[in-house]
Amino acid sequence: MVIPAPGGFSKKSLLDYTGSQRGSFEKTLRELVEIPSISADPQHYTDVAEVVSRAADLLRRMGGEARVLDTDGHPMLHGRFEQSSDFPTVTVYNHLDVQPAERAEGWRTEPFGFVHEEDRYWGRGTTDDKGPALTALWGAKYALAYGARVNIHFLWEAEEEIGSPHFESTVKHHKDRLRTDSVVVSDTVWVSRSRPACPAGLRGLQGFRFSLETGETDQHSGTAGGAARNPVAELCQLIAECFDAKTGDVKIPGFYDDVVQPTRAELDDLKKSGFNTATFKKDHEFKSLRVTDPVEIMKRIWCLPTFEVHGIAGGYQGPGVKTVVPPRATAIVSCRLVPNMDERKIVKLVKAFVKEKNADVRVEAEHGLPAYQGHTEGPHPDAIRAAMKFAFGKEPVFVREGGSIGAVVSMEKVLKAPVFFLGLSLPEHGYHAPNENYDWQQAEGGMIAFADYFRRVGEMEPPS
Ligand code: BES
Ligand code: MN
Ligand code: MN
Repeated sequence: MVIPAPGGFSKKSLLDYTGSQRGSFEKTLRELVEIPSISADPQHYTDVAEVVSRAADLLRRMGGEARVLDTDGHPMLHGRFEQSSDFPTVTVYNHLDVQPAERAEGWRTEPFGFVHEEDRYWGRGTTDDKGPALTALWGAKYALAYGARVNIHFLWEAEEEIGSPHFESTVKHHKDRLRTDSVVVSDTVWVSRSRPACPAGLRGLQGFRFSLETGETDQHSGTAGGAARNPVAELCQLIAECFDAKTGDVKIPGFYDDVVQPTRAELDDLKKSGFNTATFKKDHEFKSLRVTDPVEIMKRIWCLPTFEVHGIAGGYQGPGVKTVVPPRATAIVSCRLVPNMDERKIVKLVKAFVKEKNADVRVEAEHGLPAYQGHTEGPHPDAIRAAMKFAFGKEPVFVREGGSIGAVVSMEKVLKAPVFFLGLSLPEHGYHAPNENYDWQQAEGGMIAFADYFRRVGEMEPPS
């Protein structure tokens, strides 16, 4: 551990620190990425517990106190670096669970074999969200050694990728232990590498499973076809009634009623965000899009709700043609929601609509997440602006994010502490995609930004 020199918040002292810490940061990231902590897959149940327990050991090794909090699902981790009850407490939120990954999906390396190539780290969870979690921890380590006047807590969840179903109840249960003055989340993406970005809001999510059973077994389509109902096709028709797949327009009555259109100022910020259609296409490997105008794309991915089909299962998928009428089909769909929409109202609208269009289809609603309207003004966002500028040379743009993080709304509600964001991922890091990666530039800048943010929070005037 490099002890920062007195007055050690110069860029130089921070760069000496990050340089000296690079090896141990990479070794630790490897250790966490090599554990396939896929929260959605029951087969990886013990891996999720393992990543949480390794992370607890890590916090203890770093001089903190760590406690694994059991939930009705995967455990959660709370770490504390307490200095003084006179200091404000900042809680850093990240998640240690990851999306599933299979080599055959287009990975050039083993998804759970950490591959280090110069400044880049490949593997599932490198950017979402193990890399940013460790980056914040390394930033905290510096800030604490320097004498920043804050208590720093870590709240590391392991069910984020399944919608945080037990987060709120667990936080409620441990409310006293988790008491904090503010929260900072590092689990979001910049618009491009050339300029930092912070979310001014997040979309919510309401998932559904549509299922239909019209028989028991496959039947010959020559002997029964024509009279037999086809559940795969009926689900396709139902989905086509829900929304126009070409334009994306949702046709369920009332769906858009509560949507607040972006303001002039927000539209102006979109134009200044550094978004570029060609880069967007390249980063996400798209061949074509529904629209090409950049402002129209940004409105669609950040400010408007969607209806999406994630998968339809049922019927024959093998080689050639198998002439059967299938007996059942399932579709997994979801709606992204924007601020002011109510996920429970969307469940009601969708259920009523499906009932009217096809009463035999069963609709199961998943645990819903409300959208989130962020804070862009005040001392904390200003501290984030300054810390990002100090670390990366440019102030961040505040634009909304299209993704969802279930824990955010719960933390504000239960802990009554405002949530701010210091995200570090980039579009080319490939959230949820094959060849997910993270890089040293973002890690190094991120450590510096976090260290500076903690120092600044410690120097803020206490609220009167
Ligand atoms: N880190 C993402 C959230 C995110 C995505 C933020 C894109 C900004 C831009 C998070 O890990 C995530 O993937 N959330 C899921 C939640 C869902 C599974 C309930 C999402 O948004 O799909
Ligand atoms: Mn994430
Ligand atoms: Mn994710």
